[in-house]
Amino acid sequence: MTESEVEMGLTKSDIEKLKRIGAVVAETIEIMHAHLAPGMTTKELDDIGRANLEKHGAQSAPELVYDFPGATCISVNERAAHGIPGDLVIKEGDLVNIDVSAELDGFFADSGASFGVGEISEEKQDLLDATKEALEKSMNLARHGRPIKLVGRVVEGLAKERGYTVIENLGGHGIGKKLHQQPSFIPHFYKRREKRRFREGQVLTLEPFLAMGARRVDEMDDGWTLETENKGLVAQFEHTMIITRGEPIVLTRRSDE
Ligand code: CO
Ligand code: CO
Repeated sequence: MTESEVEMGLTKSDIEKLKRIGAVVAETIEIMHAHLAPGMTTKELDDIGRANLEKHGAQSAPELVYDFPGATCISVNERAAHGIPGDLVIKEGDLVNIDVSAELDGFFADSGASFGVGEISEEKQDLLDATKEALEKSMNLARHGRPIKLVGRVVEGLAKERGYTVIENLGGHGIGKKLHQQPSFIPHFYKRREKRRFREGQVLTLEPFLAMGARRVDEMDDGWTLETENKGLVAQFEHTMIITRGEPIVLTRRSDE
């Protein structure tokens, strides 16, 4: 181990393993996105994701950790997260969030993205663009020594400027040898009392959810799916990254973004 690796708390082999599972997760979303089409069910889309995880010997994290009934989470329109793949038919104009998290060789990665199906309204496209921008801006400021609350300030500021709200009861999280570890809950809204700072070598996700008026998501009767409190649209983008003294090392970057 070199001195800088010790400082980061990650060995070269840890970083290699994180990069490998990051690439598998990214590729899985990319393949699911390429197949996303009106008329298919969310179960059919999930099967495509599952096949790619299996091809690489990776395990679905929601199945492994939470006994979730699906390999990936697929959440449509007002559904923000943890949507169960099933017989819901995807329609032209829908917003579909694909969230893939998986484990390989003892390490986890987690990424998500919202996609429009076919032609979508300008309103939906604007929501997607703003949410993507919120993730990119927050990743750009996440570096060693900076206050974690800057993420919330930037995301909430951008959301307000564009007329959106931020979902407050979903946040980023540490990840690595577990799906969820320290640092726990990273808020995407401005929280004055948030005192933590980013540290070199932390592996974490940022995953802002922007919505149309909603600040919370509630669990549906299926016991999993989280929908916006006002049943309005929502979008999310998420990456897993390693914090450094400069720009973070993004582990789940896709070629289609
Ligand atoms: Co996720
Ligand atoms: Co996550």
